[in-house]
Amino acid sequence: MNNREIQAAWKYHDGSKHSYWSIRNHPHFLDWANRPLPFKIYPKVEPFPLPPDVPQTGVAVLSAISETVPSPRADSVPGVEDLARLLYFSAGITKQRAYPGGEIHFRAAACTGALYEIELYLVSGDLPGLDAGVYHFNPADVALRLLREGDFRGNLVQATAMESGVAHAAATIICTGTYWRNAWKYQARTYRHFGWDNGTLLANMLAVSSASGLPAKIVLGFVDAEVNRLLDLDMRREVSLCLVPIGRTSESSLPAPREAPALGLDTIPLSQHEVEYPAMLEIHDASSLESVEEVNQWRAKPPVLPSSAQTGEAVRLQPLPEGDQPKDTIEQVILRRGSTRTFDQAASITLAQLSTILDCATRGLPADFLEPTGAQLNELYLIVHSVQDLKPGAYFFGREQNTLEPLKEGKFRAEAHHLGLEQELPADACVDIFFLADLNRVLEQYGNRGYRAVQLEAGAIGGRMYLAAYAQHLGTTGLTFFDDDVVNFFSPHAKDKSAIFLVAIGKPLKRKPQ
Ligand SMILES: Cc1cc2nc3c(=O)[nH]c(=O)nc-3n(C[C@H](O)[C@H](O)[C@H](O)COP(=O)(O)O)c2cc1C
Repeated sequence: MNNREIQAAWKYHDGSKHSYWSIRNHPHFLDWANRPLPFKIYPKVEPFPLPPDVPQTGVAVLSAISETVPSPRADSVPGVEDLARLLYFSAGITKQRAYPGGEIHFRAAACTGALYEIELYLVSGDLPGLDAGVYHFNPADVALRLLREGDFRGNLVQATAMESGVAHAAATIICTGTYWRNAWKYQARTYRHFGWDNGTLLANMLAVSSASGLPAKIVLGFVDAEVNRLLDLDMRREVSLCLVPIGRTSESSLPAPREAPALGLDTIPLSQHEVEYPAMLEIHDASSLESVEEVNQWRAKPPVLPSSAQTGEAVRLQPLPEGDQPKDTIEQVILRRGSTRTFDQAASITLAQLSTILDCATRGLPADFLEPTGAQLNELYLIVHSVQDLKPGAYFFGREQNTLEPLKEGKFRAEAHHLGLEQELPADACVDIFFLADLNRVLEQYGNRGYRAVQLEAGAIGGRMYLAAYAQHLGTTGLTFFDDDVVNFFSPHAKDKSAIFLVAIGKPLKRKPQ
């Protein structure tokens, strides 16, 4: 199927919407005995343990998330310690908790259902401390496993039609999504989660890369089949989602693409049996790019610019001046991050705290689909419950102007409870930030692959919000929602847009000592 036949993205989007009735008419019960393994395990491949206790960057978190490293003229080549830091603080295990059926290993980035369906691979040239190869990263033992020996960067240069970041990178990380690991709980909605969960992980990865002085960017333009073949993925189960070139070398001759025969390596089955959701295979197929020509055409499209100009009066945001910003490092904040499970409804946050989060999270992602303008596909709508110096109500965030435009005044905790899938979290938070996009324009411009882009961007901005909130000792959680009800709530302003994602921010409820 063709990337330009955008009814495929609409079919998936409309078919995976949540509504009050869809939840009641199609209840889904979890088969705990068939719970998927949270790790991809190659039992017969020797581990290459990454160095433990790698020195931390010490860079303050808000600088790390909002400042992109300019491309250096000289070489900027990661060593194995840099890679260990990047992989660990993106996908490593940061906490462990017992639950009735066993242990949950929580990771550096938030992920729907703590199911961790995003896998990381590395394609590198010879680096300090690491030989050239294609590797898989396993967070369970913080080790790489060599899948192919030798320098395969040329295969990625070819698959991305000579994308400049990939062509000059010393190493490229590839993020993949494993359907069943998330679909066990979320069924066909998992394809949206691929974007969200990959996005939160990318927020960490870009921040740590920036703090390490290494340029990095998100690359979504690549020939899918070529990258999948390089990793030897079983494409009915696992697919490549994006590439992140890391560092920059001034090597003058690029390695030529090499043969990448099937590897046939065993992996441990995730569950006793898996359920396949054809809707996800269809949207993935329809959003795949099939040739270098198609990648070139796709990349040549000018990015979608914001559609909603600000109209009425607006509140100017007041981010914390640099001197007053928290000094906690990116590593400290990632280690203490964890989604808030109960917000304190009696608490409030300041306008400066909210402004700082919005400002840092929306300064523009380094991504091939947003170049060269630094545009943003998602637009932000807020329900403010308790932010000092801001009247409760609904607002639109003017990214260009750094303002909040009031849409309607009122106390909307009950509405937020409903919109966020009848959960307490969005009702008790201080503010709920909804991500909406003009999907028509995005899909017209980018084809079905725009659907991948808009979900991924939402996750990455949401991931930055997590970090900016935790930097200020606030609490955050990603949330799911009733799609059409969200659009209706913010209409007429949001008319013709689609709901993409939701983040709630507030203060965690401190439990009283028993
Ligand atoms: C995209 C996204 C959506 C989420 N949706 C919900 C939700 O609807 N309800 C909820 O209680 N938690 C939600 N969460 C929080 C996850 O359950 C949480 O990230 C996961 O359990 C891992 O825990 P941690 O974030 O504390 O590391 C969401 C997280 C993400 C990243």
